[in-house]
Amino acid sequence: MSQPPITEAESAPEGQLRQGGRSLLLALYTVLRSLKMYPVENATVQKALDDLDVSARTLLKSEVELEIRMAGDFLFVNATRLRVELDNYASFSHILAMLRAFDIGVLHVRSGMERREWQIFLSLLLSLSQQGEPEERLEELQDRLEAAKVTHLELERAQAEGGSSQESRHQAKRVYAESVAVTRDVVAGVRLGRGPRLKRVKRAVQLVVDQVLNNEMSMVGMTTVRDYDEYTFTHSVNVCVFSVALGKKLGFSKLQLYELGMTALLHDVGKARVPAEILNKVGGLEDREWKFIQQHPWMGALTLFGMRAYEEIPYRSILVAHEHHMKVDLTGYPKAIRPRTLGIFSRIVAVADGFDAATTRRVYNTTAIEPDQVLKEMWDNPKRGYDRVVVKALINLIGVYPVGTCVILDTLEVGVVAAPNPDGQQLSRPLVRIAVDVDGATVPLPGNQVSLTEKDESGAFKRSIVKVTNPARFGLTPGDYFV
Ligand SMILES: [Fe+2]
Ligand SMILES: [Fe+2]
Repeated sequence: MSQPPITEAESAPEGQLRQGGRSLLLALYTVLRSLKMYPVENATVQKALDDLDVSARTLLKSEVELEIRMAGDFLFVNATRLRVELDNYASFSHILAMLRAFDIGVLHVRSGMERREWQIFLSLLLSLSQQGEPEERLEELQDRLEAAKVTHLELERAQAEGGSSQESRHQAKRVYAESVAVTRDVVAGVRLGRGPRLKRVKRAVQLVVDQVLNNEMSMVGMTTVRDYDEYTFTHSVNVCVFSVALGKKLGFSKLQLYELGMTALLHDVGKARVPAEILNKVGGLEDREWKFIQQHPWMGALTLFGMRAYEEIPYRSILVAHEHHMKVDLTGYPKAIRPRTLGIFSRIVAVADGFDAATTRRVYNTTAIEPDQVLKEMWDNPKRGYDRVVVKALINLIGVYPVGTCVILDTLEVGVVAAPNPDGQQLSRPLVRIAVDVDGATVPLPGNQVSLTEKDESGAFKRSIVKVTNPARFGLTPGDYFV
């Protein structure tokens, strides 16, 4: 049973909802975790319940009802997608796992929800999560909630989904988190002057390569986990993922991809020697500071030379650390003394690096640019100094959704890409046939065709693609839309 959609006018601003939603989920997680360790009357549990109650009430003041919906690996609170970042990764995964254990797709929390009801609900979740089959657990939970007079909470069963793509996404998350941990370890090692655990780095890179080969989109999708506090680490991992995916498109063998991935992960290792206050500085850099940053390529090369003493580092890693800002016409830095041709590894890493840097928000007050605009600039402006073949591969990887791709939109609608946008500049805004509407109902064939360039009165796009999905999860056969 779904409520009428909440209009813009009566709902909280999106940022506030996102913030409130995150606090609510964190509070939920804290109660679950403390309940696991202590009896319910324990002060820690009671304090966590207080926090949860306050957090839910605050949100319910501005929202008529809270709808926490799980769609794939995303959590939406009243149609606002919550960003998964590294600091809330644990709470998100835990809550997603809990909802899955009961096959819960949507949780409705109504105004008037009491602290007592939260306590009963969460205690039941914990005690029942280990019993029986997921299909039966939800029934049992609902019965018990009813018996305990929990009336402000309603649970809806998740829609059926395909197991393999789900598993793939979990795997991609694990691989991503491990790669971030490894990168953090390498950077800390360089700062402290100790040798890195290169075996661990190699294993992490192999996992990335395997995952890209198995399910490219699941891994590329992870690069949208962007957290400016962790920028140094997520940037290196993103550059690794993009580089490996590009290498795959360019026909690299698995062994070459391992080497490319390793090289990409370490491309900015020289930044570990640049003082953090310069790296994270908000606003413009002074000449002296800029010079310092420009030293990171050769500092990286030197650092990697040093590491060769510990274990084997591919020679190409040293080259890429040195060359990745040179640009194909050698107008970048460091200045090349003699004419040279950049190696293919350096060209790939430079493209992956440029794309990730431009689409990520690095510090407060800097804004990320839309991926399609970044791609356009990389393609159109020769001064950027990127290799066009590699940029073309990147456009194929990210910018163009092939016809028949099933996509989830930010409106919660699901669509099938019907045609590229007639305006060739709008790489990420194809024509889409809506197959599943906002309420989750299937639209009769052939669906309602819309252009993702349509804007509302305020000039904002009406619909944007959130992610590519597996059509089987929604019972769709893309071919049906093109007869
Ligand atoms: Fe760099
Ligand atoms: Fe970089």
